[in-house]
Amino acid sequence: MEKIQQLKERFDAFMNGVDFVKTPEGLYDPIAYTVMQKGKRLRPMLCLLACDMFGGEFNEAKYPALALETAHNFTLIHDDIMDQAPLRRGKETVYKKWNTNQAILSGDAALVMAYDFAMRTHRPLETVALLNKVLMEVCEGQQFDMVFETQDDVSIPEYLEMIRLKTAVLLATSLQVGAVVAGADEVDQKHLYDFGIALGMAFQLQDDILDCYSDVAVFGKVTGGDIVENKKTMMYLKALELASQEQKSHLKGLYMGDVVVNSHRKIDEVIALYDELHVKEAVEELMTDYYSQATVHLDAVKLAEERKVHLRRYAEMLSGREK
Ligand code: IPE
Ligand code: IPE
Ligand code: MG
Ligand code: MG
Ligand code: MG
Repeated sequence: MEKIQQLKERFDAFMNGVDFVKTPEGLYDPIAYTVMQKGKRLRPMLCLLACDMFGGEFNEAKYPALALETAHNFTLIHDDIMDQAPLRRGKETVYKKWNTNQAILSGDAALVMAYDFAMRTHRPLETVALLNKVLMEVCEGQQFDMVFETQDDVSIPEYLEMIRLKTAVLLATSLQVGAVVAGADEVDQKHLYDFGIALGMAFQLQDDILDCYSDVAVFGKVTGGDIVENKKTMMYLKALELASQEQKSHLKGLYMGDVVVNSHRKIDEVIALYDELHVKEAVEELMTDYYSQATVHLDAVKLAEERKVHLRRYAEMLSGREK
């Protein structure tokens, strides 16, 4: 616990010292507004914990960690435009507070900043190459997510591949970058990467659950946002799997039907169906499976358990998250 806290505090202090505000303010203010919000700092924490685990120095990992967090924030700024989300981290989203054009451009600039940070390490080439690979995958995942909104017959394997791309690979790569910077061998890098994939799958399943059931004051995002946007989340796909013929056509009608109901009614009716079908419990079960799978990959890393314990604990903390 102490180690996790200590790395978080060091990283926060480091980030507070980075000046995101430059001129023209119009370009940089939305970036500073976003990155200085209280996100969980999950990706940098994974990078720092992985580096520490293999005996690497904080100072060698801090810029790559910042690069990962900045790149993540870039994806959020654009994601909120694509998902028409009004709220993130309890604050108005960038495209709402400013406008869409500003969110596109400031998002682009945040991405460039991320690359600038990624080069400030003794392993710049590997770090940038990993960032290139992962961000292209995130774009692919986001493309599938968007296309699925209007695709009627999304399968569970298609959904799983979509969330692997949009979410899990960035967690996996954050761990890998930390391992690379610390000089871990390729076999251990791969174990950590696979740990991150399983962790990321669980993390996105949890995000899908929280999108339906969270308290907006804690989660910081609008409850039911995925339902309003016709997102083919695991909640929706599991519901279809468990539903009777009648419930199936009710749900599909609410999602893709010609009858337009107001969004509050749509959210209430969809969630009532999820409750009836115990969808939350079914998705939680899947999520728990992924968390267990993750553990197996961490077990395989060739280090003493005392070196892995912090990352293990961090993953456990994540599984109980409410935001
Ligand atoms: C949000 O990521 C996007 C998803 C992959 C679900 P986080 O839940 O890590 O967001 P912050 O950075 O803590 O706000
Ligand atoms: C997260 O998907 C994926 C990326 C941001 C790349 P979501 O759209 O579910 O994330 P939230 O819920 O808006 O944070
Ligand atoms: Mg999205
Ligand atoms: Mg979104
Ligand atoms: Mg979500």
